[in-house]
Amino acid sequence: MSARITASVYTSHVPAIGVAMDLGKTELPNWVPLFAGYEPARQWITDNPPDAVVLVYNDHGNAFSLEMIPTFALGMAAAYEPADEGWGARPVPTVPGHPELAAHIAQSVIQQDFDLTLVNEMTVDHGCTVPLSIMFGQPEEWPCPIVPLAVNVVQYPVPSGRRCLALGQAIRGAVESFDEDLNVQIWGTGGMSHQLQGPRAGLINPDFDHMFLDRLLNDPVGLSEMPHIDYVREAGSEGIELVMWLIARGAMADLDGGPAPREVHRHYHVPASNTAAGMLVLDNP
Ligand code: DHB
Ligand code: FE
Repeated sequence: MSARITASVYTSHVPAIGVAMDLGKTELPNWVPLFAGYEPARQWITDNPPDAVVLVYNDHGNAFSLEMIPTFALGMAAAYEPADEGWGARPVPTVPGHPELAAHIAQSVIQQDFDLTLVNEMTVDHGCTVPLSIMFGQPEEWPCPIVPLAVNVVQYPVPSGRRCLALGQAIRGAVESFDEDLNVQIWGTGGMSHQLQGPRAGLINPDFDHMFLDRLLNDPVGLSEMPHIDYVREAGSEGIELVMWLIARGAMADLDGGPAPREVHRHYHVPASNTAAGMLVLDNP
């Protein structure tokens, strides 16, 4: 008996998507196509509820600041309060943690030579809470515990795609050696193409985004070799958030000698706020 990684979910975390939900604006015509594209994923997760989610995301200067910049920060806490810049903390439930699974992942992944930072107390911002809202809607309580993994993609140097893919492989090994019968999903969040600042603010590159979705599914190892400068040139300065999707992809069975994942759902919509919003759901049936 052990835990298994059964599926991976990849989604943008645009804060305006969370605000649209929080303010009840999802039925407005400009939001309908985006939210309609999330429906199949919500149905799928209702039919395939995880016991826990390892949620890979980035903090945006809320839990961490320039005073302290951990590259890979694993949340060990029993609970995480929402926090956010700009609009303020979202009115969403406290995010429940899974300290036992987190402690096991820490033990296993650090022994596999990844120097994680362990965080016993932190808040979670839209990077974490918007994907939860996209997948689970607006429940009174989040339906399962979350192990948050905060990745620095805000302040250079940020980790390479290769490192992210390998970390995902290590997380798979960790989860699969956790001595409890748990159905675990891993989510990679952030992206897709976007630039929020400077002369190229508003940059969106659908060709790049579709290429990224295709190669994430079919050529994750090749995609992991893509240098940072290509993300920045093609997907904008904040497009580098996409490197986090490789962590979730690395945790799928095919990178451990198993079968290729199945594409359950794909959705792409521009724009959400200033950003290309994408989603991919993969499982190992
Ligand atoms: C937007 C997107 C982000 O990923 C983010 O962290 C902040 C803002 C946006 O499109 O507005
Ligand atoms: Fe972001």
